[in-house]
Amino acid sequence: MKTDLKRIRVNESRFKDDFEALAKIGGTPEGGVNRTTFSDAHLAARRWFRQQIESAGLEFRMDGAGNHSAFLDCGEKNAQTLLVGSHLDSVPFGGRFDGALGVLAALEVLRVIRENEIPCRYHLEAIDFTDEEGTFFPLQGSSALVGKLTPDRLKAVLGGANALQKILDITGITIEGLLAAQRDPDSLAGYLELHIEQGMRLERDSVHIGIVSSIVGIRSYQVNFFGLADHAGTSEMKTRKDAAQGASEFILTVRKTLLSDYPDCVANVGKLSLEPGAFNIVPGTARLALEFRAAETNQLDSLEKDLIQKAREAAHHYNLEIEIEHLARYPPMPMHPAMMDTIQAAADRLALSHTTLASRAGHDAQSLAAFCPSGMIFIPSVEGASHSPREYSTWEDCRNGANVLLHTVLELAASN
Ligand code: HGY
Ligand code: MN
Ligand code: MN
Repeated sequence: MKTDLKRIRVNESRFKDDFEALAKIGGTPEGGVNRTTFSDAHLAARRWFRQQIESAGLEFRMDGAGNHSAFLDCGEKNAQTLLVGSHLDSVPFGGRFDGALGVLAALEVLRVIRENEIPCRYHLEAIDFTDEEGTFFPLQGSSALVGKLTPDRLKAVLGGANALQKILDITGITIEGLLAAQRDPDSLAGYLELHIEQGMRLERDSVHIGIVSSIVGIRSYQVNFFGLADHAGTSEMKTRKDAAQGASEFILTVRKTLLSDYPDCVANVGKLSLEPGAFNIVPGTARLALEFRAAETNQLDSLEKDLIQKAREAAHHYNLEIEIEHLARYPPMPMHPAMMDTIQAAADRLALSHTTLASRAGHDAQSLAAFCPSGMIFIPSVEGASHSPREYSTWEDCRNGANVLLHTVLELAASN
């Protein structure tokens, strides 16, 4: 009997059970998750995902970058693959929705299509990308898949070569494997990702679904100030070379510069460490992690120039040396218009309100967008909270988002 595709929906109770089971892995007392890449909790979440894949009768696959996938063969040897997914890793002490929702919805879409024996023109693959959040290297798994993880870029792993070695030791992933994870763009029909908005726009406007038009450009840097460690009691205030002072001036200048000259952009100093690190030693070294985001490449270029200049000035004011290491660079990425139209048609079919919006967070879709037609579906985040245990979306919104994902996949791939 032919399935009436319009009536098909995700299995809500199974999807919800999955969500709750996964949220317990690395769950924190505050209600979030702590599943940084390759932590015990992250590896446990990946083992759990593999079990779900296998018990659903789907094929489990893993590539050289450690990306984990469920695969549903459409029966046509030379068919392209429609990729659907997100990530199971989290930021330190993050929320339970960021990434997890998209992976579980992708898995659920494959299960529903398999159970209903819906013939498809594409193979379907539900993927959990490695290290989206950048514990070691932001968008690692998706960058590897699109061939953007050159040996040179691998040197820019956060934490340096030691951190990279740690990845390799823990996981058995090799440099060769990371490089070999690259796929042929012609093998992919497209990429879709469901995600929470992580901002307040959908909730404020009472809209069910966000159709992402583009993803913000991001650049990150390690900025190190070097002074002289000295006795905090006996060295003169005027002449000591205090690395913390230079770093502090720079941090405050970042905020002032953004507010006055770049009102549409954001910048963050998210990590600061002082060495040697004691009450009674003048800090000889200050290391900080700088990141900024903008919708346009020319804004990113201009921010880079201005902020590096300000960092040099701050170092000069306090008689410090400075070292600036360029880490990740992600250009702003438009989503594919045909994918946006298909998502909109799916939301209309489900009678859900929708709007178009640009993503201010980074996503694996920005790696894929330069490689194959890509699209993203957002659902509302309560109070816009994210990267925090306060991250929350209502169950109805999660379910609606998964159904929009399902109908977008059906529209693109179903052949009956
Ligand atoms: O940092 C980001 O925007 C993303 O959540 N990884
Ligand atoms: Mn995130
Ligand atoms: Mn995410």
